Amino acid sequence: MLPPSACGKVILFGEHAVVYGRPALAFGLSGSVEAMKLEATAGLLKVLVPAWKLAADDGQDSLAGRALGRLRELLPGPGGMEATLEARIPTGAGLGSSAALSVMAVRCLAAVRGEALGAARERSCAHELERIFHGSPSGLDDTVAAHGGLCLFRRGGFGACLPYEHTVLSPQAVQLDLSVPPLLIGDTGQTRSTFEMVARVRSRIERDRRGTEVLFDQIEASLEEGLRGLSRGELERVGAAMDRNQEALAGLGVSCGAIEAMCALGRKAGALGVKLTGAGGGGAVVALAPGREEAVAEAWRAGGFTPLGLPEHCTPRRNLHER
Ligand code: PMV
Repeated sequence: MLPPSACGKVILFGEHAVVYGRPALAFGLSGSVEAMKLEATAGLLKVLVPAWKLAADDGQDSLAGRALGRLRELLPGPGGMEATLEARIPTGAGLGSSAALSVMAVRCLAAVRGEALGAARERSCAHELERIFHGSPSGLDDTVAAHGGLCLFRRGGFGACLPYEHTVLSPQAVQLDLSVPPLLIGDTGQTRSTFEMVARVRSRIERDRRGTEVLFDQIEASLEEGLRGLSRGELERVGAAMDRNQEALAGLGVSCGAIEAMCALGRKAGALGVKLTGAGGGGAVVALAPGREEAVAEAWRAGGFTPLGLPEHCTPRRNLHER
């Protein structure tokens, strides 16, 4: 059996609105977190991620420690594990690090016990761990971390039939059979908390429900337009939809100076579209810049930001953990 791995993710359309029942589209960054060393032990559930300076076990009262404690409740059984993980995405950047960690913890424990849980059960357990990290996550991150590929997600499910070839993953999620052009990811270098950003949108709704729904409508329309563009290979259409999604996110109050600067630099250097990805307030941005990737990366570097690139990670593959 291959050592467990899990995906980070890039949200192409729909972050924040997804929490309130709108659709979101995201794809998995394959191999973002992989097990380097995994052994069964007699005691605690222990996870080490040197790249994140993380060492947690289920005896600790840290977020990761409590998540591991929840894992022991979800998958009761004798003995523990020690898992050392290699991470290729940063934390706190909107690239789904906590969901990837949650999926990995579940997969590693199942692996040391010789159990096959299946991707759906792995995801539902990981969602419970994500609740410890984020309060009430939509489920988008853990879906993509567990399944990979290009996932369309909606909390209430999809009533009407979808006009795109897809595989049903759960009542809330499908994996689309569409290819995604290479995307460039960049990091503002500013970490932020998903919890706080989600709370910011909640308080905006309390202040102005109608105005916020208008912004959610704009986000949903961008997703639909982006999907049409992806399905027809019309990249300018996809880029314009990304920009429209970014505009609505700025209206929600989840952009920031560094994100806006990276978007402007990217567009000036030839990107068709640039937006924040994840909860915003810092973290990562994603640019669609076919043939202009190096120019955009250079513009970001010159502006003091870090292109993360990861071109091979940007190729969605199906059932990534089964590679
Ligand atoms: O920043 P991340 O990777 O935690 O993504 C958050 C995505 C949100 O839509 C803002 C929240 C959610 O639960 O979907």
